[in-house]
Amino acid sequence: MAKNVYVVGNWKMYKTAREATDYIESLAPKIEGTKGMIYLSVPYTSIAPAAHYAKETNIVIGAQNMNDARDGAFTGEIAGLMLKEAGATFVILGHSERRHIFGESNALIHRKVLRALQDDIQPILCIGETSKERDAGKTDEVLKEQLFSALDGVPKEDAEHLIVAYEPVWAIGTGKTATLKHIEEAHLFCRACLTELFGKKQGGAIPILYGGSVKPENVAEIVDQKEVNGVLVGGASLDTDTFAEIVQKIAGGGALKKTTTPKTRKPPIRRKKKE
Ligand code: 13P
Repeated sequence: MAKNVYVVGNWKMYKTAREATDYIESLAPKIEGTKGMIYLSVPYTSIAPAAHYAKETNIVIGAQNMNDARDGAFTGEIAGLMLKEAGATFVILGHSERRHIFGESNALIHRKVLRALQDDIQPILCIGETSKERDAGKTDEVLKEQLFSALDGVPKEDAEHLIVAYEPVWAIGTGKTATLKHIEEAHLFCRACLTELFGKKQGGAIPILYGGSVKPENVAEIVDQKEVNGVLVGGASLDTDTFAEIVQKIAGGGALKKTTTPKTRKPPIRRKKKE
């Protein structure tokens, strides 16, 4: 059965602005004609030029992090409104590298999710267990905690703007993809959590992506699993041939069709600032 599929590339701290525009010029013709939108999450300095070069293509540009405040004396930080003005339509939040290298807590990620929705930037909330937690049989517990804490207080009407990405920490950048069984079980569990949080209709419609060593050779079977609505690709998104192959693999299977894009989606309900 065809389903909506998202393909998101996360460049992490790779590519200068010049390399970013070269990349988009090279990628655009390779994915022309594929249905659906391709999301690229690029470094801050590449957002504006990449968004400019991505106009008239089916590529949308986003960021990899943002601060939880609207503005303020936070040296070195960046606000959602700045990203938006630069051309970002979405932001990755709670990536495992932010959690584990930069010590981001569930509470901070929760505040960032609320801020992103308020600033009309689509959050892609990343969750995932470490190998230690998996081996201790705590995967479900960790996923539930990360989902419930991050999405606490998000109104039902904002659920349609959320994307969740399940990325087992041990599968990121290691070449060790989770087994299909593990992926399906985790996604079914995440879906149950989202339904509990937002109800069947809204919770059932939130895209859940898989990330962790996705490559052209494994993407089709991953996307075939129940409740997998797309992929978040790190290393394999850095080369246009490889990334285009990933896009084509899913499109070739007929799975890729027009997704709800930030250009057409309704903006989140504006709420008054609490502080
Ligand atoms: P890799 O695809 O390099 O494993 O990275 C996954 C990831 O962290 C995407 O956000």
